[in-house]
Amino acid sequence: MAHPRSPLRITDNVVDTDQRPAVVLERLDLELRLKLMRQAAPAAVLAERPDLGSAAALMLSDLGFIAAPWRSDAPEPDLDHGLMLIVGDRFAPDFLNDVLNGPWTARLDRVVLFGDRLGGRTLAALDEIGFPFIVKSLPTPERLASILAHADPSTAALRQSAVARRTAAAAEIETGSDRLFGLIRAGDLGAAIAEAKGAFNHFEALLDSAAAAHWLTIIQSYHDGTAQHCSLVSAIAMLFARGLGFSAGDQRRLFEAAHFHDVGKVHVPLSVLDKPGALDPEERRVMETHARAGYDMLVGNDAVSGEVAEAARDHHEYLDGTGYPYGISGRRITDITRMITICDIFAALIERRAYKAPRTARQAYAIMQSMDGKLDATLLRAFSPIAESCSSD
Ligand SMILES: [Fe+2]
Ligand SMILES: [Fe+2]
Repeated sequence: MAHPRSPLRITDNVVDTDQRPAVVLERLDLELRLKLMRQAAPAAVLAERPDLGSAAALMLSDLGFIAAPWRSDAPEPDLDHGLMLIVGDRFAPDFLNDVLNGPWTARLDRVVLFGDRLGGRTLAALDEIGFPFIVKSLPTPERLASILAHADPSTAALRQSAVARRTAAAAEIETGSDRLFGLIRAGDLGAAIAEAKGAFNHFEALLDSAAAAHWLTIIQSYHDGTAQHCSLVSAIAMLFARGLGFSAGDQRRLFEAAHFHDVGKVHVPLSVLDKPGALDPEERRVMETHARAGYDMLVGNDAVSGEVAEAARDHHEYLDGTGYPYGISGRRITDITRMITICDIFAALIERRAYKAPRTARQAYAIMQSMDGKLDATLLRAFSPIAESCSSD
């Protein structure tokens, strides 16, 4: 038997319908229905597959929207009045490209995007454009109704300003950590400390502006490996401190320890630091001098607390005494240092380096769980939700 809503047109990946039986509309509560009726306007669907598009178009039609035709070879959809629904599952590169570069990017307040298998990188790319309504599922009639009823331009404006704030914070952090290491190399530790203290606010802005999986991707794209590592450890340490409910003051303490943990690397030759492969024993010995060198630079400086200098010296020590530079163990390793060690190892594992593929957040955490007796077991357990929140699958 033919489907009653036969005038449905499917052209490649673009679907539209002019039917409006309002079946779903009747099931909705009055408030939602009134909101929807105010929004009622032409609507078009861009779908990754025709079946996804036809399902979404029928739902739109049920909700009382009048679908207007839109195809990639047609004039731009009327987004000043209409709504655009974007629906995909795999978000394959071609489709993602269409989505990221379509005419709707100029009027995001009228676009709702659905995708049930949006990976971290796809979400990050969409988020970068500032899509205000991204739903990580395929549309259902009720979900669609609720989102369309509440979609309003002020949300889109807020979203776009959050994206702008995040972009600015991410750029400040990247140039700031470049500057930090430049100042340390030049021996101007006082200015480096002032730089680090100022950077705290940019990290706060970044953490507040997006999910961890997203800002991690931003930091992982930093060009300079040292800036990338310093920023990753600092951001993860802040996340850890927040997760443990630390006061603002204690968050700063952990942040400063993270920001300065590898300052001693300025004394390690670039040929060792940036070597695209495993280090030989002599190179490893040189690399390992960074812990003691960092301590020597920081200790006794009035602007840096002793615990920050200690974290720089001890962050490669293990509780079972198998770490370096001194092989100290147990209680001689402070809580702050234990936290920095966890953040440092996690960051190193998920980092992109020329000679190794990055591990996923879950793989990194599993590796750390297997490091018997080396890391603080209680802190590592407390780190579990942090690692999970960094996961992009
Ligand atoms: Fe280190
Ligand atoms: Fe490190």
